[in-house]
Amino acid sequence: MAESVRRLFLALWPTDADRPWLAALAAHIAGARRVRDDHLHLTLVFLGATSAVQQAAYSAALADVSVPALELRLDRCGYWPQPRILWLGCSQTPPELLALVADVQQRLRGCGFIPERRAFQAHITLARQFPGPAPIQQLATPLHWSVRELALVESLRQEGAACYQVLRRWSA
Ligand code: 2AM
Repeated sequence: MAESVRRLFLALWPTDADRPWLAALAAHIAGARRVRDDHLHLTLVFLGATSAVQQAAYSAALADVSVPALELRLDRCGYWPQPRILWLGCSQTPPELLALVADVQQRLRGCGFIPERRAFQAHITLARQFPGPAPIQQLATPLHWSVRELALVESLRQEGAACYQVLRRWSA
């Protein structure tokens, strides 16, 4: 019998207090094509199709991960034509964020997970299937996101559309 798998990822997850301003910014920049307000996040590691055994191993490896209180200065937008993604990011990625990604990847490697080879690029996807180019490159007024939560999230499909469900949270 085929083993059941869940499509998982680890992400910095906005708190309920942060989500409205992030959603307003997404609406302003990306308009009608924006990602659902409750889906906005910053992916740390995409785990992909994950078996129950793998998930248990990842959970154990990440049990005592320490999430620093990150301050992200969101000041730029970009467009990746190949996946047709419009994103929001930082001109300067804080070293604490890069250290967190490296720590999480190292823990996952210990469970046999092979991280993506391409370098981590911190971004919040604002719109998919976006026609491009990015409507703006620099935000006139950068936004500061005080990140307080890392989340393990499942990507489900509901009526043909992606739907995210937080399975576990780690607080800063
Ligand atoms: P994104 O971070 O650029 O938006 C869930 O699918 C999340 O994991 C999305 O936010 C998605 O892209 C990210 N992700 C990273 N690599 C992916 C891949 N190979 N396939 C699907 N999603 C991926």
